[in-house]
Amino acid sequence: MTDPLSLVDRAKYASAHCAADFVQDGMRVGLGTGSTSAWLVRRLGARVAQEGLRLMAVPTSTRTAELARAVGINVVTLEEAGWLDLTIDGADEFDADLTLIKGGGGALLHEKIVATASDRMIVITDAAKQVAALGAFPLPVEVISFGWRASQALIEEVLATMDVMGRTTRLRMNGERPYQTDEGNYILDLELVRIGNPRQVSLVLNQVPGVVENGLFVDIADQVVIGHADGRCELRDLSSGTPQITEAQVDLAAARNIFTDL
Ligand code: 5RP
Repeated sequence: MTDPLSLVDRAKYASAHCAADFVQDGMRVGLGTGSTSAWLVRRLGARVAQEGLRLMAVPTSTRTAELARAVGINVVTLEEAGWLDLTIDGADEFDADLTLIKGGGGALLHEKIVATASDRMIVITDAAKQVAALGAFPLPVEVISFGWRASQALIEEVLATMDVMGRTTRLRMNGERPYQTDEGNYILDLELVRIGNPRQVSLVLNQVPGVVENGLFVDIADQVVIGHADGRCELRDLSSGTPQITEAQVDLAAARNIFTDL
């Protein structure tokens, strides 16, 4: 029988499965958005059913909330949780300092709020998303719909003064209409190609009137779990200053079973 999982799916599964082991009974956990996070949510749902794991989980999108409830995870608001022990989320790109580009799935605002309201953030990803310099993946910027063209023009103006290689910006669409976030805002995707100074770009973008938040996560992530298609996962921990690397192995047969059960 052919494997229903692509190589990328297997790597994402391995990463999510390894990271799920960091979740302990009684924790308040932020749940990310995207396909890697969906594997995490399914794995945590399985642990709730099999081990009686008790969680207060804060999802970063309506999609993740729906999946979490469907697999039996106790979903609460960030206000109810107060503060989180841990957030686990995917990324579109990450560099050696664990600076991230996020928001490919349109949930960057809630993702950043949830991650920064957590003691620790673990990024779950496959190896292909590691880059020497961020920016090949278009940087999502959430803007309010009112006056979005003016915000776009001002963004293009400030980009002209930044150390970036590309400056094209475009409104994210959902068919014929602008894509709308869970907050009803729009997203501008910035094709920067290479971002020389992510911290500066992030700070400057957030000064533009109409910009709600941008998808650069600077000094937020503490650890990354990189999954591989053969089931290996590699944990890189930057929280102590010196990178610590540990490896583990995931049973991919379980992934195929989960996949066929969906
Ligand atoms: C959503 C995100 C996702 O974490 C990011 O797009 C990665 O997604 P995937 O796990 O599907 O590759 O930032 O806003």
